[in-house]
Amino acid sequence: MIPNAPKGTDDVLPPESERWRRLLRTFDRMAESYGYGLVMTPLFEATELFARGVGEATEVVEKQMYTFEDKGGRSVTLRPEATASVVRAYLQAGRQGVFKGAYSGPMFRYEQPQAGRRRQFFQVGIEYLAEPSPEADVEVIEFGYRLLEQLGIGDVVVLLNSIGDPGDRIAYRDLLVAYLRDREADLSDEARRRIDSNPLRVLDSKADAAIVAEAPVPIEHLGPEAAGHLAGVRQGLERLDIPYEIAPRIVRGLDYYNRTVFEYLSRSYVAAQDALGGGGRYDLLAEMLGGAPMPAVGLAMGVDRIILAMPEEQEPAALDAFVVVADPNRRGAALRLVSDLRRQGLRVDTDLGERSVKAQFRVAGRRRASAVVVVGEEWEDGEVTVRRMAGGEEERIRIEEVPTWLGPR
Ligand code: HAM
Repeated sequence: MIPNAPKGTDDVLPPESERWRRLLRTFDRMAESYGYGLVMTPLFEATELFARGVGEATEVVEKQMYTFEDKGGRSVTLRPEATASVVRAYLQAGRQGVFKGAYSGPMFRYEQPQAGRRRQFFQVGIEYLAEPSPEADVEVIEFGYRLLEQLGIGDVVVLLNSIGDPGDRIAYRDLLVAYLRDREADLSDEARRRIDSNPLRVLDSKADAAIVAEAPVPIEHLGPEAAGHLAGVRQGLERLDIPYEIAPRIVRGLDYYNRTVFEYLSRSYVAAQDALGGGGRYDLLAEMLGGAPMPAVGLAMGVDRIILAMPEEQEPAALDAFVVVADPNRRGAALRLVSDLRRQGLRVDTDLGERSVKAQFRVAGRRRASAVVVVGEEWEDGEVTVRRMAGGEEERIRIEEVPTWLGPR
């Protein structure tokens, strides 16, 4: 028996993985053009980092972490997200001042698996550190919106909210707790448990939607600074024509946020209640980790979900040319031609088995080559035979004309 991949994990293979490549390339290119440098942090960290950064009373830390003791007796955790790691890396390196970092990679949460909810899932994300301006929030929100736009995902809406600053939340929390206490008997067990530990989280509890619909919301209890910040974010989004809706009950599942929080929803995504990505401002995280105060904002997008939401389209050809060896004596020449074309940046492959010409053409079709280049006896005259797979005549051209005939990548 061959062991299967663990529950809630996926193998990604071609041709489906071509979407992944397109997404990761688009993200990489955008990160560069928005000025975010590449950041890589370990896949596992000291458990304490997430307990302190993400928050003890969050669902992620309470229930979803892959935590184990290593052979040295240290408690380590497979990262459930990367924001705490990026801030830790910045603090540990003694960096100061504005820092813009982009990352991509697998994250791990012990969840009940379903489509778009995996135990190992993949995020791409950006973090804008040491910048308090609402324009940083706007840039980050725009980034996620444009990424989805570039990938052809239509009707995306940004759900925007402000949960205020810690000072605003003290008075608000009392109001909310009093409201929930009055209705305690009708709340779900989960919500009742959260009244003391994390009452804000009750606001996005689907099981308690009816009660929550009337509850006081943080956006109506902002102090002047948080209110001014929110106004700046809204103005910036409007300037860039980013469609958004105020969603007073979005609070997000991680404890480090203050002021701005947001999520991206798309109606073209099957499980439409699940966000394709989200993020927010986290001016307190650096202090929670033991550093000096540092304002910051960032987002992470769920790649597994975005892949599901990407429009079904005719995937473009995977190879520019497949080189067919019609004359076994010319195999060496054919391999040399393959190497030359590859070095020019063309996507070229050939069959290394000694198959019949017909079989090689079949492989070319399976590999989704857009053309074949046949190396046969005409090589003697400095020529090859070429044909487009989409139909079209065979023709003989000079060997040195092959790149031009194939066209630019
Ligand atoms: P998050 O909302 O926990 O935020 O995750 C961001 C996105 O990752 C979600 O919107 C979703 O698309 C995807 N995601 C989360 N869990 C799963 C799962 N089990 N399976 C598949 N996809 C999933 C964060 O992680 C924050 N670090 C975002 C952030 C960055 N805030 C500030 N900077």
